[in-house]
Amino acid sequence: MRSACKDEREEVIEAWYMDDSHEDQRLPHHREPKTFVSLDQLAELGVLSWRLDADNYETDEQLKKIREERGYSYMDFCEVCPEKLPNYEEKIKNFFEEHLHTDEEIRYCVAGSGYFDVRDHHDSWIRVWVKKGGMIVLPAGIYHRFTLDTNNYIKAMRLFVGDPIWTPFNRPHDHLPARKEYLETFVQKEAASPAVDAAA
Ligand code: LAC
Ligand code: NI
Repeated sequence: MRSACKDEREEVIEAWYMDDSHEDQRLPHHREPKTFVSLDQLAELGVLSWRLDADNYETDEQLKKIREERGYSYMDFCEVCPEKLPNYEEKIKNFFEEHLHTDEEIRYCVAGSGYFDVRDHHDSWIRVWVKKGGMIVLPAGIYHRFTLDTNNYIKAMRLFVGDPIWTPFNRPHDHLPARKEYLETFVQKEAASPAVDAAA
């Protein structure tokens, strides 16, 4: 990064390990003590992140460049609130079921905020809090889930390469090629690396 101080992405994307409590899913669920996860650690799981100018997404050259480089030809918006999302209660429930997709899940928060929970290499939950201006890519094959936070609102731009496929495959779906490829690319590589915690 060009800045010597805090990564500016961290103002709109924060990540931490979750506790085991079954309290309201919309609460932060920090561990005690709080255990933050860096955006570099997320990148090792294949989770990419950017900070963009959410007030000007229509003319944003940085967004345009990312879309061109990554082939994100498709774009729409998903607004999660009872008035705008058909079958709201059912969708909220389904979003929080642990699942994977056979393609990337790309979400750019242009208003509100929400939690994207992802599994780390050891199957622990990392909560990724995405606020206005934060964009993340979850790689194909990573187990994840989504919930609103206590602000109860998000408007997310959804991007996709070509015609979108939103199908969630609820865990377990370990036999899917996308899952095997994810493990080969981001998990087995780690296990083979001497730089990683030997307790793995
Ligand atoms: C999705 C998010 C909710 O699949 O994970 O749209
Ligand atoms: Ni998903």
